Amino acid sequence: VDAAPPVEIARLDVDHEPRMPVGLPEFDRVLGGGIVAGSLILLGGDPGIGKSTLLLQVAAMLGESGRSVLYVAGEESAAQIKLRAARLGIVGSGLFVASDTNIESALAAAVDMNPALVVVDSIQTVYSDTAEQAPGSIAQLRQCTMALMRWAKESSVPVFVVGHVTKDGDIAGPRLLEHIVDVVLYLEGERFSAYRLLRGVKNRFGSVDEVGVFEMTGDGMRGVENPSEAFIAERATDAVGSAVVPTLEGSRPVLVEVQALTSPTVTPAPRRTGNGLDTNRLLLVTAVLSRRLNLPLAGLDVIANVVGGLRIAEPAADLALALAIVSSHKDRAMPGDIVALGEVGLSGELRSVSHLERRLLEAERLGFKRCVLPEATLHRQRPRTTIELLAVPDLRGAVRTVLG
Ligand code: TYD
Ligand code: MG
Repeated sequence: VDAAPPVEIARLDVDHEPRMPVGLPEFDRVLGGGIVAGSLILLGGDPGIGKSTLLLQVAAMLGESGRSVLYVAGEESAAQIKLRAARLGIVGSGLFVASDTNIESALAAAVDMNPALVVVDSIQTVYSDTAEQAPGSIAQLRQCTMALMRWAKESSVPVFVVGHVTKDGDIAGPRLLEHIVDVVLYLEGERFSAYRLLRGVKNRFGSVDEVGVFEMTGDGMRGVENPSEAFIAERATDAVGSAVVPTLEGSRPVLVEVQALTSPTVTPAPRRTGNGLDTNRLLLVTAVLSRRLNLPLAGLDVIANVVGGLRIAEPAADLALALAIVSSHKDRAMPGDIVALGEVGLSGELRSVSHLERRLLEAERLGFKRCVLPEATLHRQRPRTTIELLAVPDLRGAVRTVLG
């Protein structure tokens, strides 16, 4: 056998992976600047979230730049895609639709066409001759994905596959494919909200720190270059039960408004409901407020909400949540020029947060003047910012400082 001998990394000469920018900045950003030749990219997300819309726009942009794209459509007919394209103002030059859901014939068409990109929408609707099960079965998902992977590598043509994933992470679905493909992107968002986040969760050619923000409009997905502005646009300053936190989405600072409402409960056990928040963080924060600050929440329901349909997972938003709850309870508004940042610990202490400067600069950019934050966070970092820093040791101190 003539196997290739092992190579010493130090002697290896490689160029940067060539990337093809699509020209949709929020999309290119997530891919680290563009689509890498020969890569297989899985785009997952809930049904109806906008995967087909986004990829149709991407395909159209490449088409209009003089390249050709093969769109393998298993979910909609060519006519339906034409209608959608028309609604999006897409002419469709360079955009070829194949309605054949057999993966071997789709790839044969791709060989003839030599496109700049292949889109398979969706992986659940195509089938391969090499497996006997029905489309969407585990064996078919695997065979089709492997065939696409092989073809992408041979031809250097990048391939997108769409995969529907339900919130509870449908185990027999595309999650199984995550380890086969090169890049995994998820399109997320709440149904009732127009905002969509494109998040990289795996990227063999770059970081997964970047997040793309889109708005689903009447004519397709529009990139949101200033997400902070969008997310706090409708905020009434000096509103009761509201606090703003500079969160991080990947490496990107985004200001979001957290709202809370406390109201007398009518059920035997008071309820704690969080939209866009981790319920465990909500329970922790309410428990700390009850026990350490003696806030009488026992007979009250607490409803908390992240405005704009964003989901905040990081504990750095704890303090904003706590202040929103206290503000609602006291019926007193926080000053409109303050943002809040900090993780709440079980004894009511505030814990430091990462990337302080980046967050503060974003708050500064949007016109905020002050930030209430944990003392501890300034021991390790001295952010350069004009924002006045209201450093407090604990939650009690934060409440006293901003709510009197
Ligand atoms: P779609 O891209 O078909 O979702 P997926 O492929 O992830 O299942 O998006 C479907 C939803 O998006 C549908 O409810 C209609 C809405 N939509 C818009 O709001 N604006 C548009 O321009 C388009 C094409 C769709
Ligand atoms: Mg679709």
